[in-house]
Amino acid sequence: MRIAVTGTSGQVVTSLIERGKLAGDEIVAIGRPQLDLADPASVATPLAAARPDAIVSAAAYTAVDKAESERDLALAVNAVGAGAVAAVAADMGVPLIHLSTDYVFDGSGVQPWTESDLTGPTGVYGETKLAGEQAVLAAHPGGSAILRTAWVYSPFGANFVRTMLRLAAERDEVSVVADQIGNPTSALDIADGVFAVARNLAADSDPALRGVFHMSGAGEASWADFARAVFAASAERGGPSAEVNAITTADYPTPARRPANSRLDCARLAEAHGVALPDWRDSLPPVVERLLAETA
Ligand SMILES: NC(=O)c1ccc[n+]([C@@H]2O[C@H](COP(=O)([O-])OP(=O)(O)OC[C@H]3O[C@@H](n4cnc5c(N)ncnc54)[C@H](OP(=O)(O)O)[C@@H]3O)[C@@H](O)[C@H]2O)c1
Repeated sequence: MRIAVTGTSGQVVTSLIERGKLAGDEIVAIGRPQLDLADPASVATPLAAARPDAIVSAAAYTAVDKAESERDLALAVNAVGAGAVAAVAADMGVPLIHLSTDYVFDGSGVQPWTESDLTGPTGVYGETKLAGEQAVLAAHPGGSAILRTAWVYSPFGANFVRTMLRLAAERDEVSVVADQIGNPTSALDIADGVFAVARNLAADSDPALRGVFHMSGAGEASWADFARAVFAASAERGGPSAEVNAITTADYPTPARRPANSRLDCARLAEAHGVALPDWRDSLPPVVERLLAETA
């Protein structure tokens, strides 16, 4: 398939480019300055010029804490910009896959969140991503699959795994929050899942394939568990390691409040699309290996 993707250097975009080569798909990544989601008028021309079979909306304003003081920009990019991309897909009559987030939920309870659960974002980022989902469904109701993912890491860009490896190289002990639970998700696995969903949407007009789906890595962890697994994988490969000092969210205040329970129930995606991402504990070591190779 020929797939146009918004963004050029994000974790998911870069993973789509890498995995697209293996899957035999042609990926056309389009980002700033040609396509700027903060300027909706810039969106249509480059996407149409790519003549895609499907569009993946992977670019977003992702700075969770900074969004608290840049609400207008986050809303423009994540809601208005996302809606503009969906409108182009609708005009072109091609399926749209739009990425969203676990941060649309308030983090209460202990059960994994399902797609029918009530949303209630705790910060501006989640609020603007939720507004983006609504804009996408309004602009391209019969042709969109919204994939909510979580805790994304990869060999590319800024992410938790890269940060932990850097900190372990600098100190013996790292303090990490232990009372937020979620599903670490490799962007490379997200890319594989996106391609599978794109093929299903292109081949089948069944409404059950459209709408909102949860798509995160199997298995759950606290950030502290995640850090310990990063250090174990690193130590096994002769890389840096550190002790994890488990702390609470209250010990580590941030501008944006994060959900305590971020687990996503991905059963709907498995049932409708036959897609289930691998366990994060299996996907993490190769990513650690690649990040270590970069600094070797
Ligand atoms: N990271 C996570 O933990 C996480 C968790 C849940 C859901 N998600 C969602 O997953 C998707 C992919 O996230 P990611 O981790 O790949 O993000 P990322 O690594 O932060 O990359 C964001 C991408 O968006 C682009 N972008 C930002 N503002 C833009 C604008 N105004 N116009 C055009 N492009 C713009 C960036 O372009 P530049 O290269 O030009 O900066 C970059 O390519 C997003 O929808 C995000 O909300 C992420």
